[in-house]
Amino acid sequence: MSLSSIDLQTITRIAILAAKQGGAILLDYAKKGFQIHKKEQAINLVTEADIHSEKAIIATIRHAFPEHQILSEEQGLQDIPAHATKWIIDPLDGTTNFAHGFPMYNVSIGVEHEGTCILGVIYDPTRDELFLGQQGHGATLNKTPIHVSATPELSEALLVTGFAYDVHTATDNNFKEFGAFTLRARGMRRTGTAAIDLCYIACGRFDGFWELQLHPWDTAAGKIIVEEAGGTITNYIGEPYSIYGNTLLATNGLIHQEMIEVLHNQRKNEPDPLEL
Ligand code: IPD
Ligand code: CA
Ligand code: CA
Repeated sequence: MSLSSIDLQTITRIAILAAKQGGAILLDYAKKGFQIHKKEQAINLVTEADIHSEKAIIATIRHAFPEHQILSEEQGLQDIPAHATKWIIDPLDGTTNFAHGFPMYNVSIGVEHEGTCILGVIYDPTRDELFLGQQGHGATLNKTPIHVSATPELSEALLVTGFAYDVHTATDNNFKEFGAFTLRARGMRRTGTAAIDLCYIACGRFDGFWELQLHPWDTAAGKIIVEEAGGTITNYIGEPYSIYGNTLLATNGLIHQEMIEVLHNQRKNEPDPLEL
């Protein structure tokens, strides 16, 4: 059953409310201090702020939509019957930045309906920037419409990437790709938050973003924000991007093919190119 525009507006209102609640919690912990724990890999952290932000976001969504499905980074999939509408939450994207006091982090809330991303809300409390993408209604930053850049080629592009938490041990570690793009692009950045990377593609601050092994909560919201801002988002071989897949390439569209070619050339000898 398709969603009515009234339903989409109600879901959007709750998503913005929850993202702002989470953002306020993050800022509060950033001021007062917090405990940090290590996950399975020693460089993968979780803080009190991740946990508290997630609880508040889930409580707000549950109150408004008790029957909707919820997948979130720290709690996983909620133990309730499946539902056509699924919320996908990263309560703190950029935990390493947050833990080190580097002010670049956000709350990311995406909503899928019958398997399609229909809404994305990403709130950066450090800059008070709220990015919104609604299926068929465009993308905005603090209510002003946004669009991807017009950068025509890779040699003029500002690119961004990230590295997975298994980077110390993985052989498929993104180093070759990073080197190749550094030699081709105007500049390269690593923000430490995939959700912001996608928002910055959407509003033209970056021209291209690639990364391996992201999770659904990293990209559910950003995917629709990029698409609604006129960007292109695929896997490394140009197929439609799935938030449950392994590789992501998001660009302004104009440099997409050039980036696919660089990725192909760097990865053609990988024993397992993990391209999907
Ligand atoms: C991480 C960030 C980072 C990306 C990692 C993600 P987290 O999310 O988005 O930019 O490179 O792959 O796991 O752990 O800060 O929520
Ligand atoms: Ca994340
Ligand atoms: Ca997180």
